Amino acid sequence: MAIEKVGVVGCGLMGSGIAQVAAQAGFAVVVREVTPELVDKGLKSIEKNLARMVEKGAITTEERDQVRGRLRGTTKIEDLADRDLIVEAIIEQVPAKKELFAALDKICGPATIFASNTSSCSVTEIATATSRPHRFFGLHFFNPVPVMKLVEVVRTIASDTETYEDLVAFAARLGKTPVRTSDRTGFIVNRLLVPYLLDAIRAFEEGVGSIVDIDNSLKLGCGHPMGPFTLLDFVGLDTTYYIANIMFDEFKERRFAPPALLKRMVLAGWNGRKSKRGFYDYADPQNPRPLL
Ligand code: CAA
Repeated sequence: MAIEKVGVVGCGLMGSGIAQVAAQAGFAVVVREVTPELVDKGLKSIEKNLARMVEKGAITTEERDQVRGRLRGTTKIEDLADRDLIVEAIIEQVPAKKELFAALDKICGPATIFASNTSSCSVTEIATATSRPHRFFGLHFFNPVPVMKLVEVVRTIASDTETYEDLVAFAARLGKTPVRTSDRTGFIVNRLLVPYLLDAIRAFEEGVGSIVDIDNSLKLGCGHPMGPFTLLDFVGLDTTYYIANIMFDEFKERRFAPPALLKRMVLAGWNGRKSKRGFYDYADPQNPRPLL
């Protein structure tokens, strides 16, 4: 089946990135948010990214206008009824996702493919809210979406193989590298990344090194673009804590258990870059200062 018309639900950090890369790849995109203000905010962040690409000479002003022309914002869920594929990027809570997909299931034709950008919820469980678990997948992008080349394409025990391959091909058409994975909490990336991030916190708690020294070690010793504490602040401590708890619940292994320090920081509201405080203080964003 040819995917041409794409819907994105949620125009926050991830949703706006997904809408942007789909429009850049030539797809007609309708992106839905709950209020006109949120639609506006999401589209403005895309426009800002496109303007930066023009400044750098990556695209022409004509291409920018074409990409923008393929994007339409809406607050009405009905505007997604004619889509070939709908990608959901709303809050990481199963009941909210199920409620959304149950509503979409009623208004979309039987051929529409549903995908969730979830990083930690069970795709199998969300799919039960619809009459089409065989056409329901995970499509997990990485932050920042326009830059990160990977997409995890997630199948469940109920997935239709041919439709799954259509989705793998769609991810490739976005200019991404798709990887095939199954519905196990964390998929491939978080299965390996989350224990690594949690272990960095434990190493710090045990006095192995300072925040800056551990960050520098992984950055300069292993060639990672960011050390673990910079990455934790970038992903969000609340998000990491939430994912770790879900993974611990699934696997019951210590390596997925959130360290006490992470819990305390989340309780204190130190959620990383977005709250201007995490393992670093971002009062001066150009010059983050370690807090502990
Ligand atoms: N949107 C669009 N473009 C962006 C961007 C954004 N938010 N942030 C950076 N860029 C672009 C810059 O414009 C720049 O482009 P050019 O090379 O064309 O000039 C390029 O990315 C590099 O940016 P910078 O020079 O500013 O900084 P950098 O070299 O440190 O790169 C980074 C920034 C890409 C974020 C890099 O540090 C990196 O790869 N970090 C690791 C990110 C990562 O691991 N993400 C995955 C998190 S896990 C996740 O998302 C999944 C989950 O389930 C939790």
